[in-house]
Amino acid sequence: MARFNLKVNGKARTVDADADTPLLYVLRDNLALRGPRFGCGLGQCGACTVHVNGEAQRSCLLPISSVKGEVTTLEGLGTVAAPGKLQQAFITEQAAQCGYCANGMIMTSAALLAKNRNPSETDIRNALAGNLCRCGTHQRIVAAVKRAATA
Ligand code: FES
Ligand code: FES
Repeated sequence: MARFNLKVNGKARTVDADADTPLLYVLRDNLALRGPRFGCGLGQCGACTVHVNGEAQRSCLLPISSVKGEVTTLEGLGTVAAPGKLQQAFITEQAAQCGYCANGMIMTSAALLAKNRNPSETDIRNALAGNLCRCGTHQRIVAAVKRAATA
């Protein structure tokens, strides 16, 4: 067990954890941030996606000891009362059924829009190609990202 100092959603946080504990577990279990989801735990579904220094990363694969810099989770993009632009676009387009993939879809799309403010549909589909949705809401997810890009 060791002590780690993190910056999460703009706040300094300190956690005690084993060095190989995945960032996902620290966020959910130590810091009660439940936006990132546990899907596969193998880097294959994208449900756990967060930003580390602005890059979309699979938090199930990141040992806490390897995390340097600022972490942003879904909670850092907005709140239920005041959703961020992309979150609002997902709500408006009703881009979820069960919603399990939504964290990863939104965090991956947010990283895309931060780099490319006017992505083509191909850009959006390529960016989200590694994020799985078992409910089949892909069309609405793409529409939501387009809406956010043009808002
Ligand atoms: S839970 Fe991390 S990629 Fe599936
Ligand atoms: S909405 Fe259910 S997995 Fe995507």
